[in-house]
Amino acid sequence: MTAPKKLYIKTYGCQMNVYDSERMAEAMGGQGYVETDSPEDADMILLNTCHIREKAAEKVYSELGRFRGLKTEKPDLKIGVAGCVAQAEGEEIMRRQPLVDLVVGPQSYHRLPELEARVRNGEKALDTDFPEEDKFEQLRSRPRAQRGPTAFLTVQEGCDKFCAFCVVPYTRGAEVSRPVDRILTEARDLVERGVREITLLGQNVNAYHGAGPDGDWSLARLIWALNDVDGLERIRFTTSHPNDMTDDLIEAHGTCDKLMPYLHLPVQSGSDRILKRMNRSHTADSYLRLIEKIRAARPDILMSGDFIVGFPEETEADFQATLGLIEEVRYGYAYSFKYSARPGTPAAERPMVEAAEADDRLQRLQALITRQQHELQDAMIGRTVKVLFEKPGRFPGQMVGKSDYLHAVHVQGEGLSKGEICPVRITGSGANSLAGERA
Ligand code: 5AD
Ligand code: SF4
Repeated sequence: MTAPKKLYIKTYGCQMNVYDSERMAEAMGGQGYVETDSPEDADMILLNTCHIREKAAEKVYSELGRFRGLKTEKPDLKIGVAGCVAQAEGEEIMRRQPLVDLVVGPQSYHRLPELEARVRNGEKALDTDFPEEDKFEQLRSRPRAQRGPTAFLTVQEGCDKFCAFCVVPYTRGAEVSRPVDRILTEARDLVERGVREITLLGQNVNAYHGAGPDGDWSLARLIWALNDVDGLERIRFTTSHPNDMTDDLIEAHGTCDKLMPYLHLPVQSGSDRILKRMNRSHTADSYLRLIEKIRAARPDILMSGDFIVGFPEETEADFQATLGLIEEVRYGYAYSFKYSARPGTPAAERPMVEAAEADDRLQRLQALITRQQHELQDAMIGRTVKVLFEKPGRFPGQMVGKSDYLHAVHVQGEGLSKGEICPVRITGSGANSLAGERA
């Protein structure tokens, strides 16, 4: 018997990449690969990359440089680049870093086994097509291994919104929704393998419009169907665009018992002038009214968002409008970024805000968000929330899980097991998590 070959995958960026990396590992399992945590042991290294902000691509090149020594020691080692940097840079990657053997874009992962075979033959392999066939269907031939209590499930990919700063419509392509039956089959399969919480993924997840038995289904209808899956206890979805927050989806937040009270709804800026230049096609006010509506349906929902500071031509007054919007919304969590010009996007041609100014705005915005996050965390103290336990904590007898509101919660206590959902009384609030005791 030959020893299995070892695959090391390093994942950058969004949850979609985490999901894709799992699917790639499964596809490579069919080629006789098992996963390893250490690049030193690997016969193949795959970097699943992200292109959304500039530093990510640079990090990939410097990471690749670090593998030079390994490749000299082990000439049979194969190195591949997947993900959005692969899609955007294509052949350029092999030119800039000749030790790369394989470049594969996000729409071609089902062709990995073929590409791997070519690479084993000593060829270089590149595939950055947007093929017609359904990559998820083709990736489904996987081992039925037991899974942890939470999983991602991609339901939609790509984006037609073309925000002026964003590469996603170019790297992930046009918006495509997976058919309802395939998603339900995958969800039932995950549940059979131990999953209790599913997060539906899509770059523009609430634009979901997959083919159902009686025409296209909205995301809300899909969520209602998942609500009927026995053994599935929690449903989440990410990332949404304000313009696709339809009434049925808002209503589901009030009425669908498995849909969790957490919503990631990026706004990017609170200035209408900047929102217009960003091609966001919503205003600060329409966003605030939308949140009012969502909170009317589900008053305790925890909101999170994405913000970009230092977008071209952003003035201090524009930035103040963003801070004002944050004050009004009160976020439980937020991701904030300094604008970085992405070649090929419309905003990349425009005059940049001075770097020091953008840094300063980012710091001020993050201070405000952190304050809000801690205020909302502190408000949880004394309340009892349900926690789904995911893994042991750092201390003996401790378990860590997530509340309905997606707070990380540490609980000390014997007899708690992974995958269990139980009521926890919150007793403390830390930098990025809560502490509690079994109620
Ligand atoms: N510069 C900075 N942040 C960006 N994002 C997307 N493109 C850029 C860019 N060019 C941020 C947005 C988006 C999140 C996933 O990444 O806030 O919602
Ligand atoms: Fe990018 Fe999101 Fe805008 Fe689509 S909606 S272009 S993914 S920021």
